Amino acid sequence: MKLAPSILSADFGKLRAEAREVEPLAEYFHIDVMDGHFVPNLTIGPPVVNSLRNGLNKPFDIHLMIDYPMQYAPRFSMTSADMITFHLESKDEPFRVIEEIRRLGCRVGISLRPITPIAAIFPYLDLVDLVLVMSVEPGFGGQAFMPEAVERIEKLKHEIGDRDVMISVDGGINDKNIRLVVDAGAELIVAGSAIFKHADRIAAMHTLIAAAQ
Ligand code: DX5
Ligand code: ZN
Repeated sequence: MKLAPSILSADFGKLRAEAREVEPLAEYFHIDVMDGHFVPNLTIGPPVVNSLRNGLNKPFDIHLMIDYPMQYAPRFSMTSADMITFHLESKDEPFRVIEEIRRLGCRVGISLRPITPIAAIFPYLDLVDLVLVMSVEPGFGGQAFMPEAVERIEKLKHEIGDRDVMISVDGGINDKNIRLVVDAGAELIVAGSAIFKHADRIAAMHTLIAAAQ
């Protein structure tokens, strides 16, 4: 498994310094972009995300919790190592969004709310690099893990079969439940509070990695 620290739980006043601290053990930086419509919270957008690049080397995993991914995805400067993940429940047509993100030259992820049946994602599995299974209702860090996510990950893993699609999980992950999601098939583990709410972030990441074994 690999970790994607969610900087939503970091101090927004010193984002780059916070990101640098977790970079040694991060596969991606997980960056939550919220528009106040798709979810009842507002975070950061393209100008902040793009300027965060300087001095960071690990790729970005941009989690778009916004109604109109078609409009905003092109405003992020992306490389082939980065990923943009959008929500199936956004107001844009998913096949078009996938095409648009591909056009930007980065990897494509698709996500779904806990309430959306996992099978709703199946028609897109041939076209995406990653599926992000939400284990909380999107919008805020620090919420409790929804255990139903484990079975959803198992079903998804089975449906993916031998396709080259990675499963990621996001929401409420800690050292008590990380093993469950990893055993179910999740490979890229997003964690916000479980990393940034600790004074020693690297130690917290080591704790998560050890708990996943
Ligand atoms: C929630 C975000 C998550 C959030 C996770 O809508 O998508 O990435 O930051 O934070 P924790 O790990 O604290 O649940
Ligand atoms: Zn997220």
